[in-house]
Amino acid sequence: MSIEIYYFSGTGNSLFVAKEISSRLEDSKLIPIVQSLKKSQIKTSSDIVGFIFPNFCLTLPIPMRMFLDRADLGSSKYLFAVCTRGGTESEAFEYIDKLLKKQNKKLNAKINVTMPWNHPLGKENLTSESNIKRLDDLVSAMYKKLDIFVNYIKGGEDYSMPDTDADYKIPDWAKLFLISKTFNYESHRFMYQNFIKYYSDSKCKGCGICEKVCLSGRIHIIDGKPHWSKNPGCFGCFTCINYCPQKAIQIKSKFPVISSTYKTGRYHHPDIGAADIAAQK
Ligand SMILES: Cc1cc2nc3c(=O)[nH]c(=O)nc-3n(C[C@H](O)[C@H](O)[C@H](O)COP(=O)(O)O)c2cc1C
Repeated sequence: MSIEIYYFSGTGNSLFVAKEISSRLEDSKLIPIVQSLKKSQIKTSSDIVGFIFPNFCLTLPIPMRMFLDRADLGSSKYLFAVCTRGGTESEAFEYIDKLLKKQNKKLNAKINVTMPWNHPLGKENLTSESNIKRLDDLVSAMYKKLDIFVNYIKGGEDYSMPDTDADYKIPDWAKLFLISKTFNYESHRFMYQNFIKYYSDSKCKGCGICEKVCLSGRIHIIDGKPHWSKNPGCFGCFTCINYCPQKAIQIKSKFPVISSTYKTGRYHHPDIGAADIAAQK
């Protein structure tokens, strides 16, 4: 029995988890969602299909929604999802089930896995030793969760692990908004495109890593400096910011709180390099 595991990962947390799950499931294959989106037709071919992705703004990341909008999951008899997050609840699974309903399907198994925050505006100093120490603790907790989770997948049983370790719960009114039509990937993109502008400061050496890791393909090095084109739209993954070795990529926004990247740290999973991220394209 073959298993397809589709994943999206901006800074390696979800890819790390995807590799761990894949190593526990025989005959499983990891497939990057970004690569799949380039195909004219997306069609699964396995009985068991999984999705692994990060929680972005309490819901699904843009590419994951684009994927589910287009993918023909006809082959699947069992579907599972893993959402990696910095700590809050999300409406990701509800959103997935809403999209799956169009194909008369639903998630059979789902879990949230807490990993370090990769959001440069997060509450912690992303590069501090405490964050790396936190990673060790989080990975130990993750292994325990995954061991339970994969047994359900192997047994073909439905499973939803109670979400007991989230540090922020979503109010009911926000839940309705997050799975509403208003909050689709176009509106999310509009938000990233219009309220968040990126630039590289004087530390930039024009190494081109940002262009390589940009998962939507909107960054181009022109005259030795990165430029962010309007099309294709931004996925809002902050991968460019987090993988820049000079910490030279900053955000400029109409909202001052979002324009603080010049003083915050950066994070990517220590075992997942820029080449692993770029390989999703
Ligand atoms: C744009 C953006 C929004 C995020 N929003 C949330 C959030 O609402 N709740 C949360 O717990 N984590 C949030 N995070 C943190 C990520 O979900 C978390 O660090 C995840 O493990 C990153 O996975 P990746 O390394 O595979 O991209 C956000 C990260 C980014 C970049």
